[in-house]
Amino acid sequence: MKNKVSLSRRQLLILASGYLVAAPLAALAEGIYPDIHVVKNPQCGCCNAWIEILKDKGFNVTTEDRSGSFLTEFKIQSGVPNNMMSCHTAKIDGYFVEGHVDASDIKRLITDRPDALGLAVPAMPYGSPGMGPEEEREAYDVYIIGADGTAAVFQHYPEAGMSV
Ligand code: CU
Ligand code: CU
Repeated sequence: MKNKVSLSRRQLLILASGYLVAAPLAALAEGIYPDIHVVKNPQCGCCNAWIEILKDKGFNVTTEDRSGSFLTEFKIQSGVPNNMMSCHTAKIDGYFVEGHVDASDIKRLITDRPDALGLAVPAMPYGSPGMGPEEEREAYDVYIIGADGTAAVFQHYPEAGMSV
């Protein structure tokens, strides 16, 4: 009887430790992501359209309005290179997300956790998330910006109707 109790307690401990290890991965798989904080111009409609898409994809979004040079200053502080700048600048899990980056790319970023500063879609390509219909999308790239500020293609989006 005594033996049986101690065995089940040990099993419980094994179960508990296994759960603790698996919990963060399970949370990502179930769609529970770290909060994403979006800094944007209060007059920007496309920023809000992008935010709505992120919410639909399971992100918890917080926002902060900054205009003009205050917004640019935040981009520079975050490490966004000049030629990678777009409208809004978001922060998630220590990374920046500049512009109309697809939710799936953000999920890949926080799952893979590469050694980088963040992701960027420079300017505002037509048909990117929050920038008009996907069926009319122009080709664009999502860039990953390394710690040294260099950009490399993270994901390519072909023109709508074209194959990859
Ligand atoms: Cu925009
Ligand atoms: Cu925006």
